[in-house]
Amino acid sequence: LGSIAVIMPAAGSGQRFGSQRNKLFATLAGKPLWFRSAERLAESPLVGRIVMPVSESDQPAFENEFSDLVARLRIEVVRGGAERYDSVRAGLAAIGDDSEVRWIAVHDAARPLVSAGDLAAVFAMASQTDAAILGAPVPGTIRREIRLSDGILRTETVDRRDLYVALTPQVFSAGLLQRAYQKHNGRPATDDAELVERIGHPVSIVRGSADNLKITYPEDLAVAEAIYARSTK
Ligand code: CTP
Ligand code: MG
Repeated sequence: LGSIAVIMPAAGSGQRFGSQRNKLFATLAGKPLWFRSAERLAESPLVGRIVMPVSESDQPAFENEFSDLVARLRIEVVRGGAERYDSVRAGLAAIGDDSEVRWIAVHDAARPLVSAGDLAAVFAMASQTDAAILGAPVPGTIRREIRLSDGILRTETVDRRDLYVALTPQVFSAGLLQRAYQKHNGRPATDDAELVERIGHPVSIVRGSADNLKITYPEDLAVAEAIYARSTK
């Protein structure tokens, strides 16, 4: 119990959300998004630590305005970096070689809607395979372009039954994720799973709910409120 440490990157600025402050300060059912995300994780008996990388400019807000909420979930606030993987790296440095930590879960602070069931399922899979992420089925029809020499753009249908939208948490054995980041040469990666793949370790996937959406645009909040209300009924 308690052998999972969570790194919850929160050091972005929320450009696409377009508010004055970090989008993570917007509220969902009366509490900031980052708090709602952490709350879901803190409810799991398997989670022993929550490390949250934040930006330099947001640090004062977490130390003052939000200090009670931070303390309530025993969140460890650390300084994040310019890119998401810099922030995850800062989280890894904070965890260091804590011998109580057997698995590390990386979960976007912008995903406040992950269900307890999906969390338990991805944690269980990671304990079996050392690397597991949540994924949602692709909802729409996908077409791939085929370019012929006549310059006309044509497309063909892609079978989407074996495609997933990658979600978080992404959960790895602690040593594996530390190694993937040590070997990281700076070439951008789309997520932590890709970095782990690059050092030759396969990543298993657990089919999760598409309700676990990432708040990216302001209009995502209304959807999130509806899903949240339903999940707490
Ligand atoms: N993140 C981070 N450090 C960065 C960039 C992003 O910790 N340098 C975090 C964000 O705070 C967010 C998660 O990574 O919780 C996913 O990133 P995204 O949804 O893209 O958030 P932002 O980068 O803040 O938004 P945008 O790309 O619109 O600016
Ligand atoms: Mg971003």
